[in-house]
Amino acid sequence: MWDTKFTRQLGINLPFVGAGMAIVGSPALTAAVSNAGGIGLFCLGPGAPEMFADDIDHIRRLCSAPFGVDFIVEETAFGPATTDAHIEIAIAKNVPLAVFFWNPPKEGWVSRLKRAGIKVWGTAFSVESARRMKELGADAVIVQSQEAGGHVKSSLGAMALVPSVVDALDQTPVIAAGGIADGRTAAAAFMLGAQAVCVGTRLVASTESVASAEYKRRLVRAHNEDTALTTIFGPEWPNAPMRVLKNRAVARADRGAAPLSRPIGETVVFGQPYRMPANSAVLPTAQTQGDHEEMCLAAGAGVGAVRAIEPAGLIVETMMQDARATIRGVLDVSQTKSLKT
Ligand SMILES: Cc1cc2nc3c(=O)[nH]c(=O)nc-3n(C[C@H](O)[C@H](O)[C@H](O)COP(=O)(O)O)c2cc1C
Repeated sequence: MWDTKFTRQLGINLPFVGAGMAIVGSPALTAAVSNAGGIGLFCLGPGAPEMFADDIDHIRRLCSAPFGVDFIVEETAFGPATTDAHIEIAIAKNVPLAVFFWNPPKEGWVSRLKRAGIKVWGTAFSVESARRMKELGADAVIVQSQEAGGHVKSSLGAMALVPSVVDALDQTPVIAAGGIADGRTAAAAFMLGAQAVCVGTRLVASTESVASAEYKRRLVRAHNEDTALTTIFGPEWPNAPMRVLKNRAVARADRGAAPLSRPIGETVVFGQPYRMPANSAVLPTAQTQGDHEEMCLAAGAGVGAVRAIEPAGLIVETMMQDARATIRGVLDVSQTKSLKT
């Protein structure tokens, strides 16, 4: 059932992509998704190229299956998230796949990667940005709809956006991202014409993610109505809308009140100690101290399907099994009740 143009492009078994998630992702999470038959993406974010090289080596020690690296194209307070040096490392390490997120990549990056035999995907938020990625030479396009956790650009939900992009791109495979957190939402994405699903939030609540225990607990408790789309987070990456769990920081901004005027915590990010300013976009990890009511807790609108913290491989297997059963009509979706009530 899952033997498609998409799976053949990569030589993998399952049309499941583990989203690149800077700060809370880990080489272990990437490897676990790939070892389960999907393809894990690894996103360092604006960390040093040497750190990126070490992380790729770490993934290779944990898995021999294909994996991808995910590049954010943006200036941040920590510097540009992707530089020529990062691209050169991906080429030197011969990674199987490189994915670009947020802004279109430099044409030279795409051509250098493709000349080296590396598959290249782009992320799109609209029909226009998807067409641009295809023109740049993308082998597939991730289309991120408004339900997605983390940084989001789209003004449309998956129902409207995914089929529009599928039709516009014709033969180029489309991967749906945003709000896909269980078998039935994955099945729905396939029905809309996506050839694969890209999952973030559900994997933050995995044993392999390095998100803080409290962040994971909040994901397990949250319902689909508990997220908000906001631009309050991110002196480190300003004016970029994010979908997050509602908390005190979000409520304060909703009331029109000024943000706190003191730091909200301490953490270690990209290998450096970091004092988190009010409304920091830096996600809490096991190394973070501070009040989670003030922190950026990125989460997608499918968070209600996160019921437990599980190994990533089990998440991949159960989501794909349930999607298959849903599509075949073996599983009565109305009886599934995968959301918390
Ligand atoms: C905690 C978190 C961090 C994220 N960080 C990144 C990132 O660093 N790079 C990236 O390309 N996408 C990032 N995303 C977005 C994902 O790639 C993906 O589009 C999104 O998770 C899909 O929606 P979902 O969270 O509802 O599954 C992040 C998402 C989350 C939830």
